[in-house]
Amino acid sequence: MHTHELQLAIEELHAEHEWNARGEVATYIPELSNANPDDFGISLATADGAQFHTGDFDVPFTIQSISKPFTFGLALEEFGEGEVISRVSVEPSGDAFNSIELQTGTNRPHNPMVNAGAITVTALLHARYGERTFDVILDRLSAAAGRRLSIDEQVYESERRTGHRNRAIAHLLLNFGLVSCEAEHALDVYFRQCAIVVTTRDLAMMGATLANMGRNPLTKSMVFDVLNVKHVLSIMFTCGMYDYSGEWAYRVGVPAKSGVSGGVIAIVNRQLAIATYSPRLDARGNSCRGIQVCAGLAARFGLHAFDCLNVGSSFLQSVL
Ligand code: DON
Repeated sequence: MHTHELQLAIEELHAEHEWNARGEVATYIPELSNANPDDFGISLATADGAQFHTGDFDVPFTIQSISKPFTFGLALEEFGEGEVISRVSVEPSGDAFNSIELQTGTNRPHNPMVNAGAITVTALLHARYGERTFDVILDRLSAAAGRRLSIDEQVYESERRTGHRNRAIAHLLLNFGLVSCEAEHALDVYFRQCAIVVTTRDLAMMGATLANMGRNPLTKSMVFDVLNVKHVLSIMFTCGMYDYSGEWAYRVGVPAKSGVSGGVIAIVNRQLAIATYSPRLDARGNSCRGIQVCAGLAARFGLHAFDCLNVGSSFLQSVL
């Protein structure tokens, strides 16, 4: 039987980048330093449910910042765009993910992908759901993955003990009235959401749910409101790779999100999702091998949103 060309492509990219040992495993959350730096997994899931995997695609790791686009989507559903955007801007910051700053003039976090914005979003959810907030987030992420997810208690405890920079951010938000008095509760939910355990197989399915306009391609359940998927994907496109977002949009050209434990998720609208895991990070906190693999796939299959090979949406065909 012949091997599918997507399977061949990820196997070739895995072999090509396996020897790349550039970058460092994150240590500022002490428990993350226990990761095996050599782990390297790649998964693809298409919007109609086909899956391709290679390498360490079943190795569990914590989702970290890849939770942020999903909680942003939940807040949009719950509060509507106006309310959410009144507290969090949608402008790339050009600064590090953990920078302690707000947008000049409006005093809002720059966007929901940097820590300040994500903590604001989680605080909003907490104002609505109280003690249930983490379960609400976990349920929705589990529905996107198509299986019951859980958290890594050690990583959660480790960040809760040492996350003083995020505490400083939460207090800045408190100062400007962007979060209510339960800043510590919101932070606790934020640390838990970052400690949700996934594999590249899970992330690819979560990404395919976005690529498929909010419907999980395997379980067929409608996980995210279709009207908000475009908002989530556009923020991922402009802000998902932090201060590398501009270059990423230029070179790879698809919505994406990275996490500090080494995951990357990239979405090709209506087509497929790429998920990679490799814990060695560059100076901006993005997985070195993850960037290479996504760039390689984009080049090979013309996935860039503006690539001449990408035929784009069928909108024109449907109206002509
Ligand atoms: O808040 C933090 O610092 C982590 N829990 C998540 C940051 C993160 O994943 C940044 N990604 N590259």
